[in-house]
Amino acid sequence: KKIVTVVGARPQFIKVAPVSRVLRKQYHEIIVNTGQHYDANMADVFFQQLDIPLPDYNLGVGSATHGKQTGQMLQMIESVLIDEKPEAVLVYGDTNSTLAGALAASKMHIPIIHVEAGLRSFNKKMPEEVNRVMTDHISTLLFAPTDTAVSNLSKEGIVNGVYQVGDVMYDAMIYNIELAQQRYCIEDFGLKSKQYYLSTIHRAENTDNRDLLKNILLALSNLNVDVILPLHPRTKVKMNEYGLGNILESSNIRVIEPVSYLEMILLEQQARGIITDSGGVQKEAYFLQVPCYTLRTETEWVETVNCGWNQLLHPDTPDLAHAILRECERPYIPNLFGDGRASEKIVSSIRTLWRTE
Ligand code: UD1
Ligand code: UDP
Repeated sequence: KKIVTVVGARPQFIKVAPVSRVLRKQYHEIIVNTGQHYDANMADVFFQQLDIPLPDYNLGVGSATHGKQTGQMLQMIESVLIDEKPEAVLVYGDTNSTLAGALAASKMHIPIIHVEAGLRSFNKKMPEEVNRVMTDHISTLLFAPTDTAVSNLSKEGIVNGVYQVGDVMYDAMIYNIELAQQRYCIEDFGLKSKQYYLSTIHRAENTDNRDLLKNILLALSNLNVDVILPLHPRTKVKMNEYGLGNILESSNIRVIEPVSYLEMILLEQQARGIITDSGGVQKEAYFLQVPCYTLRTETEWVETVNCGWNQLLHPDTPDLAHAILRECERPYIPNLFGDGRASEKIVSSIRTLWRTE
């Protein structure tokens, strides 16, 4: 049977890697890359490093307003589906590429498989929240990473086709962490183990507000220890637009280009703490038992907060640095995101789509 997988943004390249490896043993997979992320260090590097099969279709949609970007994807994915006639469409997460893939399939009555279903921030101002809610409500198979996600779906009346399988990002971590340690070395970044903070910031709520972005950068500069900041292109554009570059001059913050996945997980593992607004990075901090400070008002990954490894800090907190530097005890509660075999469970459940045949 043929399955069309739609991806387009950095976190989706990381999620597709473990699933595709298993999926291809049983199904004919066609990969469609919408091109939502297109810089080499936001896209190509992951295909090369994680051995992801090259996309069968590169739609090259690129950056635009939400409507234009999603609309162009929808139109182009529909053409692919007309040509390929797949038995199912597989989408990941909550980006505009996810929604476009799901919508295109839904209108053609092709069953949708949603990996990372049921996540909710309950903040409809986030574009991702709208993308996830819509995608879940038109999906046939919903692979939830946690019990919370299953319960969120159930509260919205979605109970059929829901499977709690764990998190494919944990699969990716288990598969790659030793490789990362073999291939890269923290000293190559000019850093010492556990003597620096790693930060990533890209969420629209933080980057599209000058005061918040300024407060975050000032907090990082007030930490008085090395901070390494692989800068998302969105944040780079906004920092230039707002004239905030001076905060970084002669500070402890080292801005670098976005890094590969293996470099990133090594930087995470060796950090004293991680300061982020990324969804994936919050989970990775927990996987690696590194304290995480999430600069947001809420998180979809409530388990990471409840177990003590992740702390939510409102990005407009006046003394963010102080809150970050406060030490606290964190007992490790294992397996909150499954056992590292989410991809296998997903692939073996896909056949339920055709169980009546
Ligand atoms: C998108 C997702 C977000 C996800 C993030 C992962 C949506 C609505 N948002 O946000 O959920 O967490 O990806 O990183 O789908 N840009 C480049 N080069 C690139 C990509 C982007 O320069 O390769 C710049 C452009 O100025 C672009 C901006 O970044 O306008 C934002 O890119 P976009 O894909 O629209 O959203 P992200 O903020 O990356
Ligand atoms: N990541 C990476 N290089 C970087 C920053 C992040 O490989 O420079 C990885 C990170 O380890 C995680 C994923 O990208 O696996 C998270 O993606 P992102 O933060 O862009 O999106 P989100 O998870 O917030 O949707």
